[in-house]
Amino acid sequence: MNSIINTPEGTRDRLFAECRDRRKIQTTLTALFQTRGFAEISTPEVEFYDLFIRSGNPIPQESMLKIVDRSGKIMVMRPDCTTPIARVAATKLKAVPLPQRLYYNETVFRSGAAHKGGSSEIAQCGIELLGAGGQEADLEVLSLAVEALQKVSPNGCHIELGHAGLFKALTEELELEAAGAERLRRLIEGKHFAALSGLLEPYQDRRAYQLLSRLSSLFGGAEVLDEAEALVGPRPELIYLRELYQILDQAGYGSLVRFDLGLVHQIDYYTGVIFRGYAEGAGAPVLSGGRYDNLLGAFGRPAPAIGFAIDVDAVAACQPAPAQPGRLRIAMTKGRLQDKTVALLERVGLDCTPVKNPGRRLIHALPNYPLDAVLAKAPDVITYVEHGVCDLGVVGKDTILEQGSPFYEVLDLGFGACRFALAVREGSDFYGTYKTRRIATKYPNVARRFFEEKGMDVEIIKIEGSVELAPILDLADAIVDIVETGATLKENGLVPIEDVAPVSARLVVNTAAMKLKRKEILDFIAKCQQGLEEV
Ligand code: PRP
Repeated sequence: MNSIINTPEGTRDRLFAECRDRRKIQTTLTALFQTRGFAEISTPEVEFYDLFIRSGNPIPQESMLKIVDRSGKIMVMRPDCTTPIARVAATKLKAVPLPQRLYYNETVFRSGAAHKGGSSEIAQCGIELLGAGGQEADLEVLSLAVEALQKVSPNGCHIELGHAGLFKALTEELELEAAGAERLRRLIEGKHFAALSGLLEPYQDRRAYQLLSRLSSLFGGAEVLDEAEALVGPRPELIYLRELYQILDQAGYGSLVRFDLGLVHQIDYYTGVIFRGYAEGAGAPVLSGGRYDNLLGAFGRPAPAIGFAIDVDAVAACQPAPAQPGRLRIAMTKGRLQDKTVALLERVGLDCTPVKNPGRRLIHALPNYPLDAVLAKAPDVITYVEHGVCDLGVVGKDTILEQGSPFYEVLDLGFGACRFALAVREGSDFYGTYKTRRIATKYPNVARRFFEEKGMDVEIIKIEGSVELAPILDLADAIVDIVETGATLKENGLVPIEDVAPVSARLVVNTAAMKLKRKEILDFIAKCQQGLEEV
């Protein structure tokens, strides 16, 4: 019955004001694109799966909603608009000379994780400038992106520029293997400041090291280009970004253009300038774009291209600026980590009395620092930070590894240290059988990844607590669980046979808050760092 009255997860009905707000943004954007000479294009909502595989598009397979047609071919609900547009440009529009200026007002479909509050249907309004390379084309698209954001973000906005070539060139200098470069990319993308210095330590004598180790913290105004040049000299990518900035500044957009040299997402897809747009009141970037000079070639018509898309619903959902600008909100994990977080903050002079005596209140304003604290269970800390209703969070790496990290993980706080381990009943020979092993765990994603990396096929059973019971009751051959002192394992006749991953508390930051409240958040991170050094 529910399948008749409910809509599928990630979709919803939109009524009245929601439709009006969405339509208003679409009308504003499409009118702007038309005045700049862009013509509308609409492609099918369903495309062949092979199209996206062939294009080298980095959308993960599991994010695409699939359908099998009558002949047995796999089709997908369009996960982005750029690839189908490149297909059209290389086929139906092949006789039309380049450059071509196209805009679209379409829905894209991405299947998200269950109960994450995300949408599987994303209304996008965007443009593609096909067949135009070089600075002039980049400037045309960047100024249009700024103008478009300005028109639909009344609370304030800015765009951030990076360069895909910078990361590629620096990693080539280090002669990193593909896996090492990918690990480095992930750490830079997630702003894992601490882990980065560890990974790069062996390369300290290389010139590229200086910039790579600082790349994820180089975000902000044009001064980040000076900082980068001071580290590695005037590299072509930095010179290019500076030229773009100077021209955009002369055109009156200077205050709306910033930089993040740590923009390294979809690095194999983008080939030049790469950018994101932020709107005040949104918990995630609302605009994404960049130069992708290899895509059209994948369809047989090699030509440079650049474009961007705006998430219409994210813009429409922007909340007005908060009553107390500059105030931060942090989600702290209740229980064991709470006391240690409080101790850390108290060491640097923050009065945490309200958090220590919470009563039934759920939000606690610190009396001597512009910070409100929320106490929550670990998985909820992630949810609140991901959605941007909390700017910061303190949460264990165990929860991050299990739930994913759609935020910046800026500090390893060191406390709450323990490890994930694989444990079995004493005397049992876990590896000495061909039988598919059963693994009980509270952390199915962590366990699945661990065995995938080993190339081992296992059956995973999710248990909610006291996992040690499962092998004792013969429900499982082993467990993957947190081990702190090892006492629980020992008292239950189990022994750890392999470490899976180290765990400790992390300070995490919402990606948009990091950019929109940069100074306040960097000040708070510095305070925490100071607190860690004072132990
Ligand atoms: C965790 C973990 C182990 C225990 C390990 O459980 O799941 O059971 O702590 O600690 P030890 O190595 O110091 O003995 P938790 O206390 O969170 O309870 P739960 O198992 O009921 O979730």
